[in-house]
Amino acid sequence: MAEGYKIPRGTFDILPSESYKWNYVMATFRRIAESYGYHQITTPIFEQSDLFERSVGDATDIIQKEMYRFQDRKGRSLALRPEGTAPVVRSFVENNLLYEKKGNRLYYMGPMFRYDRPQKGRYRQFYQYGVENFGSDHPYIDAEVIALGYSFLKELGLTDFSLEINSIGTAKSSEVHNAALSAYFEPHLEELCADCRTRLNKNPKRLLDCKVPSCRAIAGNAPSMLAYLDEESAAHFARVQEYLTLMEIPFTINPTIVRGLDYYSKTAFEYINNNLGSQNALAGGGRYDTLVEQLGGKATTGIGFAGGFERLILSMEQENLSFGEVPHPRIFLVSLGDEAEKTAIKLLTDLHNAGISAAFDVDKTTLNAQMKAAGKSDTDFTGIMGDDEIKSGKISLKNMRSGEQILIPINELITFLKKN
Ligand code: HAM
Repeated sequence: MAEGYKIPRGTFDILPSESYKWNYVMATFRRIAESYGYHQITTPIFEQSDLFERSVGDATDIIQKEMYRFQDRKGRSLALRPEGTAPVVRSFVENNLLYEKKGNRLYYMGPMFRYDRPQKGRYRQFYQYGVENFGSDHPYIDAEVIALGYSFLKELGLTDFSLEINSIGTAKSSEVHNAALSAYFEPHLEELCADCRTRLNKNPKRLLDCKVPSCRAIAGNAPSMLAYLDEESAAHFARVQEYLTLMEIPFTINPTIVRGLDYYSKTAFEYINNNLGSQNALAGGGRYDTLVEQLGGKATTGIGFAGGFERLILSMEQENLSFGEVPHPRIFLVSLGDEAEKTAIKLLTDLHNAGISAAFDVDKTTLNAQMKAAGKSDTDFTGIMGDDEIKSGKISLKNMRSGEQILIPINELITFLKKN
């Protein structure tokens, strides 16, 4: 026998026994996003690679180390999308969505790809949910986007998470802060990890969120981003906080949130679950007021966030939360004898046509084996048909939850199941 194939490292199958959890979180996200007035957008899983290079940023880990780049047969450089914002902005510009009724509030769900070291909560193919909001730089919009994420996590029943917010400032204030950071870190060059030494020239902010303990110790005393905000950014950030307080959304300010992508300005935020271990970011996002223009569109502000479904589901499992009803047949038909089998097959067809989930195991012939199969299927009812029942046009119905058994006319079964 040939050796079996193995799934690629860092990927996973969503097996039938787990799929209902995914459907539940996806349906909940859709419901919450639509209740905030968002419309779904779906973009391809691959794009021109320079779309990401120009937006996420050439010097970021995502572009330097993690992006799946490939050439197609015509030699075009393409990339599996590592994130959803750049593709949504590309589509927003390309399709002139600014002028469309449904174009300013967009949500999406789908797979993203990053060649990262796999571990709990971190995969090479992972599934994100996210929103992007275009065309308003009002601080209320920042709070509303944050509130959407909060409503979603709350709706799922999660409690073990916190919201951390920061302001990265405008490009101008960011430059001044970067200069202060360079001056601060320069004398510590020898003590920094190899990654941070390279980061220092390209983007000194990134040193603030290095996970290496010795770098963290040095970064602890680095000049705070908040001290360098220009007047406009500081005022914006203060108002975002006022709105969050008004909306009763608890938050803490964390000036070390830099985000791993270059397109952000002003507000940045993350939802953190510390029980998740090192991959503790449930979701993250922020404002990107120059990205649309940078990608060839008319100057339009934007803000959004995205989260990974894997970490969300892990968090829900840790908190023992419900994923809704596990799908199961409403009725399992058991038949004894040839005549009864024919009646059962006809009845099964009627049930399916009426939209009622019904099961039947044609391979099992004994009563015992069929009853066992019914029990395994977690059905609500088992309908038993033998010669006697058929002669009288009836079906014996066992309620598998209460154990109660009744006899009803076969032609009343559908009405009965719709009511019970
Ligand atoms: P990000 O912080 O790179 O932001 O990713 C958002 C979320 O995706 C993370 O908080 C995490 O939950 C999940 N995630 C990221 N990488 C992985 C991975 N390798 N395995 C599992 N989950 C992962 C963005 O992607 C931005 N596009 C968010 C955004 C939208 N900003 C503005 N709009």
